[in-house]
This record gives sequence, structure tokens and C-alpha cells, in this order.
Amino acid sequence: MKNKKRLLSGNRPTGLLHLGNYIGALQNWVKLQDEYECFYMVADWHALTSEYQDTSELAHYVEQMFIDWLAVGLDPERSTLFVQSDVIQHAELTLLLGMFTPLAWLERCPTYKEQLQQLGHKEIATYGFLGYPVLQTADIVIYRAEVVPIGEDQIPHLELAREIVRRVNYYYGKGNPILPEPQPILSPVPKLLGIDGRKMSKSYENCIYLSDSQETVSAKVRQMVTDPARVRRTDKGHPNVCSVFDYHKVFTPERVEEIEQECRTAGIGCVECKKILAQSLNTLMEPFREKRHKLQAHPERIKEIALAGGERARQVAEETMKDVRKALKLFLK
Ligand code: TRP
Ligand code: SF4
Repeated sequence: MKNKKRLLSGNRPTGLLHLGNYIGALQNWVKLQDEYECFYMVADWHALTSEYQDTSELAHYVEQMFIDWLAVGLDPERSTLFVQSDVIQHAELTLLLGMFTPLAWLERCPTYKEQLQQLGHKEIATYGFLGYPVLQTADIVIYRAEVVPIGEDQIPHLELAREIVRRVNYYYGKGNPILPEPQPILSPVPKLLGIDGRKMSKSYENCIYLSDSQETVSAKVRQMVTDPARVRRTDKGHPNVCSVFDYHKVFTPERVEEIEQECRTAGIGCVECKKILAQSLNTLMEPFREKRHKLQAHPERIKEIALAGGERARQVAEETMKDVRKALKLFLK
């Protein structure tokens, strides 16, 4: 139990969690609980950096994220599950780290440049949005987390976090580093695409949500794009260009060779093939649904878990902040 390395990761509550989130991250987070002392955070302040104009759904998504997390097996007995805004120390550390983060580091961050172009209409040319990676750095280092499971897109943020940590240690930790440099853990699984073959994303309306019912899942699978050259039942298929087949590789691994063969020889039709996939997905998701239903019957339990996680997170964060304030030689500290 002792001497486990600390791990932190987070997710922005800007929508409901989907199968892509599960395959790309959550599934791995659940496993990592055995090996690490895990802190999993609902990054509600990070959600605000781009969604500040309309916060009407924010609290709802935070709650739903907790439910999804618990439903898939994040375990509040072993891991600290908490909400970012419940640990105000993150804000204090963000402010301090901002003092020695050069603007140029933030301005050249690829996620910043891309988002600014893509979401220009949302007016995100703000101080808060530019500082997104500084807040993310604070999230990580305030727990002295050594490892951070993330997707490829977050690599620049982690690199920035490491640069900021090096500066802190150089200025204030002479010979005695105050904070560890965090390392990324990349998820071992490939990205799951949406039902239309594009990246799975709320804005494309192509997601299968973890909270979808059995019927909804089956209906969405029926809409999935298949080999466009396979028009008639008797046409031979090309599984390599079919997203249903990509899903089978992930969700029906035990039958994937058979399906490939049957598709190539027109032994199986797309309707049947999709039925098999819907079944695989529903088999995976059924235990999540059961857990979700149980939790929803006791909404106060969800809040209790979040509050207890926040309490624990604050203790650890406050310990680090004591060291940081002292290292910076702030008056009265
Ligand atoms: N920026 C991350 C994302 O969009 C979410 C996040 C916030 C995070 N704080 C974090 C991830 C700290 C890892 C560590 O996915
Ligand atoms: Fe895709 Fe299955 Fe149809 Fe082949 S049979 S094209 S794998 S849906």
C-alpha cells in the first residue's frame, strides 16, 4: 500500500462521457488504481476557460461525470475522486506559477493556437484560456504527482508543466527540488471514432454515451457507416475500411477473425454484423448501467463521495502549498 507513486489525471465536464472516453482513458484509469495512488479530478475550472458564457449545464455535467466514473469502476475507497473548484489551493498555486511562466511558452502552445482558430467565435482570447496549461500544471504538481495518464493531445501541456517545475526548482529549491517533474503515461489503445467515422465528439453528435440505454446503443450502431462499396447483401465487403469492423476489433476481439472472413466472402450481412456489435457493446455496458441506476437512486451518496474526495485532496494540496509558500519566502509563512 505504501510507496505507491502518485498519479493525477482530470477530465473537463463539458458533456457526458462517451465510449471513446472509456476506451481512450477511463478503462486505463480503472486499471491504474492497482499500481498507483490515484487522484482523479473533475476539471470544472478548465471547463470554464472555454464555456464561461453559459454555465447552466456545468454542475449537471460534474455530477454525471462522477456517476460515470463510479459506474465504470473508479473506486472512491482506493482513489481520491474530487472536483477541482473544491480545492482552492489549485488557484493559489496557479497564481504563483503564473509569476514565472513566460508568456511566450503559453503563446506557442499548439493547443492554444489551434483552439484559438477553431473556437474563435467563442471569444476565448482570454487571460484564463491562455493560462490553461498553468492551471493544469498546478493540478498535477500540487499533489506531487509523478505520473499523468493523458492522450496525445495533452503532451504539450505536460511538457510545459515540466518546464515550469524545472524553473520552480531552479529558483527556489537550490539543491533540494520542491516539486517532482511529472511524466506522461500514454493510453495503450487506439482512438475510437464516432458512428459517422469522424473523431468521436459531442459537437459532431456522433457519440455513443456511457449512459445510453440498450435501445439507443443498438439504434446508433445501426446508423454506423460501413464499407461504402458494399451496397447489396451479396457484395463482398472490405472490413479494413469499415468502422463497424474497427469497433469489433476493440469490443468483439474473440470473433474478429471470423467476422473479417465472413465479411470478405459476403457470408455475413452488415445488418447481422451490426447486431453482433450492439450485443458486444451492451454486454460491456450492462454492468455500468446497473451501477448507474443504483447510484441514481441515492444522489446524496454521489455528493458525499465528491465531498470526501475534496477533503482528502485539500489535505495533500495544503501540505504542498505550505512548502511552496515557505520556499518563496512569503511573509508570515
Ligand atoms: N486538459 C485536460 C484535458 O482536456 C484535462 C485536465 C485538466 C488534466 N487538468 C489536468 C489532465 C491535469 C491531466 C492532468 O483532457
Ligand atoms: Fe462492415 Fe460488418 Fe458490413 Fe463487413 S459485414 S462491411 S465489417 S458492417
